[in-house]
Amino acid sequence: MNFTEPKPTIKAFSLKPQDFGEDFEFGVSTAAYQIEGAHSIHDKGASIWDTFTSKKGAIFKNHHGQITCDFYNKYEEDILLMQSMNIRNFRFSLAWSRIIPNGFGAVSKSGIDYYNKVIDFCLKCGITPWVTLYHWDLPQALQDKGGWTNRDIVNWFENYVQVCAQHFGDRVKHWMVLNEPMVFTGAGYFLGVHAPGDKGLKNLLPAIHHAVLCQGIGGRVLRKLLPDAQIGTTFSCSQITPYRNTPRDILAAKKADALLNRLFIEPILGLGYPTEHVPVLKRIEHYINPEDENNMVFDFDFIGVQNYTREMVKHHWFVPYLRAKIVPASKRKVKSTLMDWEVFPPSIYNMIKQFNQYEGVKKIIITENGAAFPDTLINGEVNDTDRKHYLQAHLEQVHKAKKEGANVDGYFVWTFTDNFEWAEGYRTRFGLVYTDFKTQERIVKSSGKWYQSFLGNQ
Ligand code: GAL
Repeated sequence: MNFTEPKPTIKAFSLKPQDFGEDFEFGVSTAAYQIEGAHSIHDKGASIWDTFTSKKGAIFKNHHGQITCDFYNKYEEDILLMQSMNIRNFRFSLAWSRIIPNGFGAVSKSGIDYYNKVIDFCLKCGITPWVTLYHWDLPQALQDKGGWTNRDIVNWFENYVQVCAQHFGDRVKHWMVLNEPMVFTGAGYFLGVHAPGDKGLKNLLPAIHHAVLCQGIGGRVLRKLLPDAQIGTTFSCSQITPYRNTPRDILAAKKADALLNRLFIEPILGLGYPTEHVPVLKRIEHYINPEDENNMVFDFDFIGVQNYTREMVKHHWFVPYLRAKIVPASKRKVKSTLMDWEVFPPSIYNMIKQFNQYEGVKKIIITENGAAFPDTLINGEVNDTDRKHYLQAHLEQVHKAKKEGANVDGYFVWTFTDNFEWAEGYRTRFGLVYTDFKTQERIVKSSGKWYQSFLGNQ
């Protein structure tokens, strides 16, 4: 891990979309639970996020996503706004419990109709839909049977992917199987800070293995039913830097890198779990069946790299299994976002390079990058210069990696409108477009106006 140190950006941002190459796609990313609302309309089943947000104290100020941006009702308006901002690629996810209310079994006609309308409207507006199958909102009915810890999830998920491919595959040509499995297993099944709020290794280890299997099986189902589709899956990743240049901190950084950046991609590529740095992962063996080895591997057309920051890691005796601990940005007194994530653009460059080194990675798409800053609405305007600079600095790093030969071919901003930010509720805004959650008014921020003019410059 020899990483490039940051150089301050002195020049004004001067890149144009065509500098990234003809095939490079720019877009915006979202997720169903964060934007849709309409949480119980028609026969929609509850998801684990519906349940988790109803637990007192689980989320900042007990916020929830019952209405959020009301995208369910406002999708036409939002997609038209996207079109007017020159955005030609829209990544969104399907809510499993809207399509199959109980997770397995009867398919909801109204759920299918709704996504058909969204997809058709995108295409009518000249916007390509990029669909994520699973962005964390597991049907509660499946969680009641153990959710990701129950091996049956492999069959439930396979069936769900088939239903989606059959109904939408004639028009959707870009698919992502999972969104950030490290986050939904780690935060949801180990730390208990995301839905379903479970804790401990006994939940984490099976959840990891079943998510790995579903990555592979989901990819295989799509490939079989939709041979001309582009199939990917996405990973959270952050450059890991040792806090001090000591052997112990260097080892701690290696462990964190194995856990945060390598754990889900390496099994797909046939490299197995990175147990040499995190020995406790050997216990996953307990959940591996003989036929799993083949199913864990899949030849994805692209890998979605999602990057927001870097992590500094130090050795720490008291953290069980890992003996490593993240030193938060606030402790280091560095420039950071409202999430307490350091603003460190070279991280995206180094992550592209790290993922590009894997022989089996054919193409990288940056499927998420963005930042939460304290936006203020003054006289109908949001001057979010920090966000604009953040996005520009990250694009410069993506461009640098591309120029040096990395196979990176897309960049999606997280996110379009401010929305429900999981455990943070509505405290942190990431949008290019400001959402007034009382009136549902959309106000394009100055970062959004900049993205619009950048994309218009082709
Ligand atoms: C990602 C996640 C998104 C969004 C973003 C900003 O981890 O996929 O849903 O919340 O982080 O925190």
